[in-house]
Amino acid sequence: MLNITENQSLKQHNTFGIDVKARRFLQVTDEAALPELFASGALADGALLILGGGSNMLFTKDFEGLVIQIAIGGLEQQETADGDVLVTAGAGIVWNDFVQFAVNNDLAGAENLSLIPGTVGASPVQNIGAYGVELKDIFEDCRVFNLETGEFREFSNADCRFGYRDSIFKQELKGKVIITHVRFRLKRHAELNISYGAIGSELERRGITDPGIKDVAAVVSEIRVSKLPDPSTIGNAGSFFKNPVIEKYEFAEVVAKHPEVVHFATGDGRVKLAAGWLIEQCGWKGKVVGHTGTWKNQALVLVNHGGATGQEVYDLSSQIIESVKQTFGVELEREVNIL
Ligand code: FAD
Ligand code: EPU
Repeated sequence: MLNITENQSLKQHNTFGIDVKARRFLQVTDEAALPELFASGALADGALLILGGGSNMLFTKDFEGLVIQIAIGGLEQQETADGDVLVTAGAGIVWNDFVQFAVNNDLAGAENLSLIPGTVGASPVQNIGAYGVELKDIFEDCRVFNLETGEFREFSNADCRFGYRDSIFKQELKGKVIITHVRFRLKRHAELNISYGAIGSELERRGITDPGIKDVAAVVSEIRVSKLPDPSTIGNAGSFFKNPVIEKYEFAEVVAKHPEVVHFATGDGRVKLAAGWLIEQCGWKGKVVGHTGTWKNQALVLVNHGGATGQEVYDLSSQIIESVKQTFGVELEREVNIL
């Protein structure tokens, strides 16, 4: 039986804490509900939104359609012949619970992605990444329900076409499929990635010369807590914009005027600029604008200081885009989904 409710508040379902409603709302805890939903005809009746933890969403108005909130559980591990471990997680598992499971079982690969909010099912959508690791580095495959055909199929790593904060699920399959399970390939023998500067310096500060999986997870968690606001007290969706990736000739123009610009080589001849730095240089860091603002320790994070509407946050983001464009000639792109 499908328990679709009406006029459901989404305030507890988005980390910005924006108070909007969904006209219809269904929580799915078992993938068997999806063929039933397809057969019911409810999917053909207006707009659809797939929702995990709502930590990459900005609602600017009520959602006049059906919100399908994915709460499918389950966490299983399986040894492979080559000594790796495949962990299958239901899409509704809280991302950090999966990471903790891996860390506590001495399985390497997920530790740099500690403390990222949201669900397992959303992790392939923007190929989540932090501290030198991306989801694609540990992703084996995922199971997907197609809302247009009513069929299940598996997507391999190559099928997902992962890029920086990008995948097929953000492009041609946007809103057309539901990820029900993700399978991760983790390593028994730790291959730690401590290349991100802040990890190395924090390990050194702690006097750790031969770090293990738990040390890296602990250090990443501490760095994150020091930089990012906790959505349970200050509404936010993490980085509001992507770090802009520009061509070499465009970079030459920026660096000629701003030699100190913070940048990183992407490996394909292009250059990634630190959006937080660009925004800070334009004077936005820690600025309060009505009920909104940018975070005092990370200018890339827009916050709800309490009572903000989604439109206010969106308007602030437009002002920031304009200001960075004027100063640096670089166009910021929003990372957060705007609804
Ligand atoms: P939602 O916000 O609910 O949805 C995000 C998108 O995925 C939407 O398009 C939605 O339709 C789609 N989606 C959700 N579930 C499914 C599903 N099962 N099947 C198909 N589509 C689905 N992100 C990073 O990459 N790195 C970070 O370091 C990081 N730090 C953050 C820090 C903070 C404090 C916050 C609040 C956010 C941060 N984020 C970060 C962003 C966010 O955590 C990720 O994008 C996360 O994967 C979103 O998960 P969610 O379940 O909340 O997805
Ligand atoms: N910086 C500033 N001022 C700021 C913020 C940053 O000058 O206000 C500079 C820093 O000093 C540093 C550089 O910008 O030199 C990069 O900063 P940081 O290491 O904090 O990372 P980021 O590029 O701002 C990205 C991701 C984060 C991820 C961190 C760690 C994007 C859009 N954001 O942020 O992901 O956690 O790296 O790997 O790629 C998210 O996607 O929601 C998110 C939080």
